[in-house]
Amino acid sequence: MAERPRVVVSVGASVDGKVALARDALLMRRPSSELWAAITPQAADPVDILEVVRAQYGCNAILEGSGSLVAEDETPDGLPAYDGDAAELYEHFLPPEIIGLVSPPHMWFTAVDSRGRVRWTEDHENWDVLVLVSRSTPVDYLAYLRRERICYLVAGDNRVELAEAMAAMGTELGITCVLSTAGGGLNGALLRADLIDELHVTVLPALIGGVGTPSITDGSPLGVGEPATRLELLSVHTDIGGAVRLHYRTVA
Ligand SMILES: NC(=O)c1ccc[n+]([C@@H]2O[C@H](COP(=O)([O-])OP(=O)(O)OC[C@H]3O[C@@H](n4cnc5c(N)ncnc54)[C@H](OP(=O)(O)O)[C@@H]3O)[C@@H](O)[C@H]2O)c1
Repeated sequence: MAERPRVVVSVGASVDGKVALARDALLMRRPSSELWAAITPQAADPVDILEVVRAQYGCNAILEGSGSLVAEDETPDGLPAYDGDAAELYEHFLPPEIIGLVSPPHMWFTAVDSRGRVRWTEDHENWDVLVLVSRSTPVDYLAYLRRERICYLVAGDNRVELAEAMAAMGTELGITCVLSTAGGGLNGALLRADLIDELHVTVLPALIGGVGTPSITDGSPLGVGEPATRLELLSVHTDIGGAVRLHYRTVA
């Protein structure tokens, strides 16, 4: 398998490791956006982690899970039924008019979405959407992505097989580094798949609590006797407002 892109995780978390205020209270929506802003101190010297990893590794993709964009209890808008040949939709969709144009400073906004829940309505200059789907993704959703000329890669049977998807991002699109700005579900799955190379955490001076509230890495628990993933501290910075920025790399 070709060398996969480097995976760097960047997340803001309370001191007790929560990355949201409650399950299904998406940070991009009010009132959570305002409540989260209220516990995020103004940094004296703010750092844009995306710019840091772009400079370090030529990072050209960010990664999100569908859980940051659509709440679990939400029903996405219906899509027209597809009545063509389903088999051909389960091939990667990388239209040449999009990937042919891709060059710096172009970025990929990548989202894992094997259940086909996200509807794409926004355009951003120099960004294209890349959806990671699986062979269980509803055919109507794949037809929708093709109609909208939205790129996708197919990896895995029931869910997105993350190692395969990362490798395809490298081989098909030349992506060298992925910045995951996801929540605990996707970051936990990346952790279990041994795909996390580095972690930037901004620890916010707040406690949130709550069983089931997304944390930095959720996903499946370790089995009894299974070891934790060890980290090496690369840097630490304390902001005047009380946030602490930590930068680690995983130790093999
Ligand atoms: N504080 C921060 O920096 C920060 C950053 C991002 C998000 N958030 C917050 O965190 C919350 C979202 O977190 P979340 O944990 O609910 O959602 P999430 O991180 O988006 O996790 C769910 C996503 O991960 C995928 N996934 C989970 N396990 C998988 C596996 N084993 N293999 C492959 N794919 C897998 C799911 O795929 P399927 O849909 O295919 O199952 C889904 O796309 C929101 O409230 C958001 O606002 C906070």
